[in-house]
Amino acid sequence: MHHDSDPPRALTVAVAPGVAPRLLRDIDDVEDLARYRAEGGYRVVGATAELLDQISTSGLRGRGGAGFPLAVKLSGVRAAALRGSRTVAVANGEEGEPASIKDKWLMRHRPHLVLDGLRLAAAVVGAHRAVVYLSDGESARAVDHALTELDAAAITEVPIELVVVEPGYVAGEETAAVRAVNGGPAKPTDKPPRPFESGVDGLPTLINNVETLAHLPFIQAHGGEAFRAVGTPGSPGTFLATVTGGGRGPGLYELAHGTPFATLLDLHGVPASEVRGALMGGYFSGLLGEPILDATLDHESLRALGSALGCGAVALLTDECPVTIAAAVLAYFDRENAGQCGSCFNGTAAMAAAATALHEHRATDTDLANLHRWSTVLRGRGACATLDAAANIAESLLTAFPAEVRAHLTGRCPTCADPAPLPLRPFHAETAVLA
Ligand SMILES: Cc1cc2nc3c(=O)[nH]c(=O)nc-3n(C[C@H](O)[C@H](O)[C@H](O)COP(=O)(O)O)c2cc1C
Ligand code: SF4
Repeated sequence: MHHDSDPPRALTVAVAPGVAPRLLRDIDDVEDLARYRAEGGYRVVGATAELLDQISTSGLRGRGGAGFPLAVKLSGVRAAALRGSRTVAVANGEEGEPASIKDKWLMRHRPHLVLDGLRLAAAVVGAHRAVVYLSDGESARAVDHALTELDAAAITEVPIELVVVEPGYVAGEETAAVRAVNGGPAKPTDKPPRPFESGVDGLPTLINNVETLAHLPFIQAHGGEAFRAVGTPGSPGTFLATVTGGGRGPGLYELAHGTPFATLLDLHGVPASEVRGALMGGYFSGLLGEPILDATLDHESLRALGSALGCGAVALLTDECPVTIAAAVLAYFDRENAGQCGSCFNGTAAMAAAATALHEHRATDTDLANLHRWSTVLRGRGACATLDAAANIAESLLTAFPAEVRAHLTGRCPTCADPAPLPLRPFHAETAVLA
């Protein structure tokens, strides 16, 4: 297992065979304005109703985790603008998810692709203000420089600002982003209101993941039908997958939705025979056992397995014990939750304590029964979905890896004969060296 204290390992960036990349390029440095425009970027916006139609046809779903249809979100905020309200558009590049690197890669290497997508979305919702929200220093430098280039070339119609916050798991949640842009702490607030009703400055606010926005220039240039020419009917287009684990450095891959998991393993160079399961959607969507080996990578197929694609981060379990990983992730949530909601503050602490006891071979049947009960009753509590993520981890450990859980109860887990301290951030993708 890769530990936080280990030296960084290089990031592999590749495109699945047969896929024409829409987001990834062979770029080690930062793509500048001239290079981006040479590819046809920053086209004239044109009629926004037509662009919205094309986005609707494309079926593009959000890449930040929930997979929500972009056109629906755009339509809501656009309707407010058509009623005379001022509106705001936010690109969410916070990427608090430790096992994901895709948003940082886009901002560090193709900031203009993200900014082009943001200005197109801002145009569709009639925004008078646009914000790039992030926490990574290298991304901030690249985006800031790209904004300077845009100013000099007088390209965008809407003023775009950069808001940089301290990194944190919950800082990328949409209400936390809104609160931070409004000058508060990057911690979630109760919903409703949702940002599309009342967000930045109390105005209807569009907030989208930076990868979601980075798909828009393709749709503008080629149309919605071309976008969905690859992918599945329910999950159109390509997506970025961050892969960690398997004894290798992190990988960033562009795949068509519907790609067999086996293809991803080939790309990452890990034999299927070595994989006992995966942690899905970064830390969010829980663990899957061997059924992942026959799955395809799209929202429908993973939902049918009781899991989710989430932000596209897939951590491979090979030598790692799933009990250790679950305990480490629950301990991470115990540390990283915003400490605002009693159910989350206490619930993550209790689940982490039970899972840690299991990891250390000192859990009782009562601990296990409690873990099971908490993973059910705590769902939906708290202002944001962090507690759901913790419940996903606990529940999926118990259902996907019953033999390993039993082995830990009896003190006979072959992987953990001498349990090591829990890693602080297992499968942390940032341990890569990025150019
Ligand atoms: C605890 C938590 C953390 C989140 N972190 C991020 C994040 O770092 N980046 C992100 O884009 N979305 C994150 N989200 C999802 C956002 O709330 C929001 O749904 C997303 O930015 C919407 O963009 P999309 O529709 O383009 O996916 C998080 C959600 C939760 C519940
Ligand atoms: S649910 Fe947890 S992480 Fe979310 S706001 Fe409440 S305390 Fe913070």
